[in-house]
Amino acid sequence: MTPRIPTTAGVGLRLQHLAEVAATRPPAAWLEIHPENFLANPHARELLEDIARDYPISVHSVGVSVGSVGGLDRQHLGRVRGLIDRLDPIMVSGHLAWSTHEGDYLNDLLPLPYDAESVALLADHINEVQDALGRPYHLENPSSYLGFAHSTMTETAFLTELVRRTGCRLLCDVSNIHVSAQNLGYDAFRYIDEFPAEAVGEMHLGGFVVEDEDGPEPTQVLIDTHSRPIDENAWDLYAYAVRRFGPKPTLIEWDNDLPAFATLTDEARRADRVAAEALGSVRHAVAV
Ligand SMILES: [Fe+2]
Repeated sequence: MTPRIPTTAGVGLRLQHLAEVAATRPPAAWLEIHPENFLANPHARELLEDIARDYPISVHSVGVSVGSVGGLDRQHLGRVRGLIDRLDPIMVSGHLAWSTHEGDYLNDLLPLPYDAESVALLADHINEVQDALGRPYHLENPSSYLGFAHSTMTETAFLTELVRRTGCRLLCDVSNIHVSAQNLGYDAFRYIDEFPAEAVGEMHLGGFVVEDEDGPEPTQVLIDTHSRPIDENAWDLYAYAVRRFGPKPTLIEWDNDLPAFATLTDEARRADRVAAEALGSVRHAVAV
């Protein structure tokens, strides 16, 4: 039976922390795993299945490529389903992007133009994924570095249409919104205003780096590296998102230059405090 979904913040369980978490069972509200880390690693899978008896688990696939024009990798989906059946996770999620092409896995999560053709392709694939996995899929908004000139819809309108066609849920990555808004020059708070709130089932917060770009006019680009503490701008945006969406399970997403596990859980506690303060200020405003 799927355990009740917490509304507090959880942390990613990466392979570097697996043995420590298995041995010491540190406090954490829930853990997110990438199934691709465990599918070909029986020892890691054994530890994970043991850990899953004590923590709610969220499964976040980086290999289910819903945007691939060449179709879904059904073998991979079958393997992910096998793991899901053993873990009984609280949520299953993945990206609005494509990362495979003709059977090859690419390292990056690549973007799609937002138009009617992409909506049709994505809707078919999301329906197929939800049928194959036997549960709702949480689709994550990407971090963007370039817009497509031939997009005919905003990202939020595109996500709203996918929810309408498939009944999928959404994973709102607040840091991705900040990164994309800075890189593409739009208002992150307005993006949250337009995000389909009723479909939000989870949120993400992750660190990014700022790189200087050479050119006639030097500019800065934000790169979504998941390698740093959460930026103050992202915390502000998170408080705003919590006021709009309500409390949601929120992941501290840290994948590179991993710190001690306790640093992740400290960030999760900060997320809980920020959410409580944001909701407190809503209640205060209503009372006044
Ligand atoms: Fe994310």
